[in-house]
Amino acid sequence: MSTLESLNVGVVGACGRGGFATHPVPGVRLHALCDINREALDAAAAKFPGVERWADFGEMIDKSKIDMVVVGTPMPLHVPQSIAALRRGLHVMSEVPAGVGIEECRELVLACRQAKGLYMMAENMNYFRPMRIVTEMVRRGLFGKTYYAEGEYLHELRDLTERTPWRRKWALGTNGVTYGTHSLGPILQWMPGDRVTSVCSVGAGQHHVDAAGKPYELEDCCVMLCRMQSGGLVKIRMDFTSDRPSAHRFCLQGTDGCLESSAVLRDPDRIWLRSRCEGRAWRTVEEFAEELLPESWKRAEADAKSAGHGGSDYMQLLDFVTAIRTNGPSPIGVHEAMDMTLPGLVSQKSILEAGRWLDVPDSRTW
Ligand SMILES: NC(=O)c1ccc[n+]([C@@H]2O[C@H](COP(=O)([O-])OP(=O)(O)OC[C@H]3O[C@@H](n4cnc5c(N)ncnc54)[C@H](O)[C@@H]3O)[C@@H](O)[C@H]2O)c1
Repeated sequence: MSTLESLNVGVVGACGRGGFATHPVPGVRLHALCDINREALDAAAAKFPGVERWADFGEMIDKSKIDMVVVGTPMPLHVPQSIAALRRGLHVMSEVPAGVGIEECRELVLACRQAKGLYMMAENMNYFRPMRIVTEMVRRGLFGKTYYAEGEYLHELRDLTERTPWRRKWALGTNGVTYGTHSLGPILQWMPGDRVTSVCSVGAGQHHVDAAGKPYELEDCCVMLCRMQSGGLVKIRMDFTSDRPSAHRFCLQGTDGCLESSAVLRDPDRIWLRSRCEGRAWRTVEEFAEELLPESWKRAEADAKSAGHGGSDYMQLLDFVTAIRTNGPSPIGVHEAMDMTLPGLVSQKSILEAGRWLDVPDSRTW
């Protein structure tokens, strides 16, 4: 077993997205890689001499001396693999979304309640540099009371879906918001203590077909309106099929400030804060970095940047391991994961019922 200083990690889905967890992070020792693609597994493992390789997840969690599993497999495997690992006493960091069905999400919540290990959903969007700065602004009250937000995740995935066929069913083969956590994750941080209580979802129709000539079940642009417990409103827009460059955009409105993020990485994110701006003049989020970026982010920035997704992949793993070692709460525990995941699952029913408003369950009552 590992020392207190570092946790032995096993990565499943190691030849896909799980690979993010192979980047060195303090407190983490890469111990085992698991993937059903044996050829790709051998190629991946060759870069890490001494690291175990497993083609069977059940065997890895039974036999390997690991403390923690990073689940980077396709969406329908997140819940079963997370539950199996939790039941063996392991800590689990699972890719997004937490699950693909409400019932299996309930099982995950129950498993977490009984588990010795900690669970975290790896919503890396929460760890991007501008998101961290805005989160700190909210924490310091610079927005006043936040009551409206928008999140847009526009990412054409048709070619990738041909190469990763599970997406044809779980991302583009289901109508509604199938991948909403990247948008809801940061927004829920900016509305602390709040949650989505009901959603309605509609789409803009199908204008594209897959390689076999079949229309996608997912409409080309899906919008989900979220009613918040506080009375606030959130609008999520997701588009995986339209021809366009990618754009990830956020907007936030509070009583004392607002954010209009750029849709394109490296373009400035505009912000207005009553207490920090002249009249109604915009400033940029980046202008506040020196003052508001958390020290942990500044310290690790150089190492983090060489990992993936602008440093967010590194920072989320570091945050989770720090929580485990300090017996702290999980940075994105199962209920926060549900707050981000369940609205999208309910939207998939709403869109089939012509956009009827439907309640979103509160996992804390399960
Ligand atoms: N947070 C992010 O930025 C981000 C980015 C991309 C993908 N994702 C998420 O990561 C997950 C994986 O996406 P991807 O693009 O890497 O998919 P992928 O298909 O490219 O990779 C998944 C890997 O899992 C392996 N695998 C499949 N079934 C397995 C099993 N039973 N046991 C062990 N290995 C198995 C596959 O062989 C493959 O190497 C998805 O849930 C996706 O939503 C998140």
